Amino acid sequence: MDLKDAHVVITGASRGIGAALADAFAARGARLTLAARSLPGLQEVAARTGGAVVQADLADPAVVDGFIARVEAEHGPVDVLVNNAGIDVTGAFTELSGEELERVIRLNAITVADLSRQVLPGMVERGRGHIVQMSSLAGSGVFPGMAVYAGTKAFVSHMTAGIRMELKGLPVGITLVESGLVAPTDMKDSVLSYPPTAACFRRFYAGRQDRPRGGARDASRAHAGPGVPVPVAHQRPAAHRGGHRRRNLASGLRRRVSARRPPRRARPARGRRAGTCRRRSGSASPRCGAPTGCR
Ligand SMILES: NC(=O)c1ccc[n+]([C@@H]2O[C@H](COP(=O)([O-])OP(=O)(O)OC[C@H]3O[C@@H](n4cnc5c(N)ncnc54)[C@H](OP(=O)(O)O)[C@@H]3O)[C@@H](O)[C@H]2O)c1
Repeated sequence: MDLKDAHVVITGASRGIGAALADAFAARGARLTLAARSLPGLQEVAARTGGAVVQADLADPAVVDGFIARVEAEHGPVDVLVNNAGIDVTGAFTELSGEELERVIRLNAITVADLSRQVLPGMVERGRGHIVQMSSLAGSGVFPGMAVYAGTKAFVSHMTAGIRMELKGLPVGITLVESGLVAPTDMKDSVLSYPPTAACFRRFYAGRQDRPRGGARDASRAHAGPGVPVPVAHQRPAAHRGGHRRRNLASGLRRRVSARRPPRRARPARGRRAGTCRRRSGSASPRCGAPTGCR
């Protein structure tokens, strides 16, 4: 999509990845609407990108209800929605309060679904649009202390795959981002403040250090801080990779299914009378034609 003058709505744009995305979209000439709770952060990003500010708590269902309609009434049709706002609740699962549980599931999962649901009909009608879903590495692999966060991100990843199927053939696209740790962000600091999670991330990234990688990783490591190498683009676990991996998986399954089938000789051939011998009988005729059990 040509981003020049495209209207891009970014949730969670007051800091971190959302603010960096706002800079990148603005550099390509997009017109921005920036949403989050904290006004000072939003205003700072708006001042350098020229974006419009919408102060909103997107974990509040009353705010999410009709959100896209209000944005479009004030700032025009949405061309790109970046569902970026998210929180982590890293820590022991049983120590989560019910309120924290509700808040993270609502913001990371339900709001993402609801905003996608609200924005898509208009995009399809206008024949133009794109959604970017900010999932996570935790959407396809879980780390200790991140059970609920990972659950919400798995929801986003799975839902996005389903929406993509429904958009097939339409001029509207959807992109899933399953990023590893990104630094510097408040979220990275929060995730690594819980020792079991930090230890697991250290093992995860250390295990990947023997593999050949490009320069991007080295560049990203410079931002990561001591002890935590942060690849810009990590490789997802095999089961979640697309393209040829999925085809290989399917052919593996086919092999297993056909191994369970009865042997071919036991089944009557299609179009041939059951009970006729199919034994080859020398040179004159390819089949002897005698009833089964001729020998
Ligand atoms: N950082 C990472 O390592 C990493 C890795 C993979 C995926 N991600 C995902 O990337 C996205 C952005 O992460 P980040 O690292 O940039 O996080 P961050 O630095 O903590 O920023 C989160 C953003 O979401 C906004 N937000 C939080 N609660 C909100 C609410 N109730 N309503 C509206 N906005 C809210 C925050 O603004 P206010 O507080 O002002 O509302 C902020 O702008 C998240 O979905 C995260 O899960 C991050």
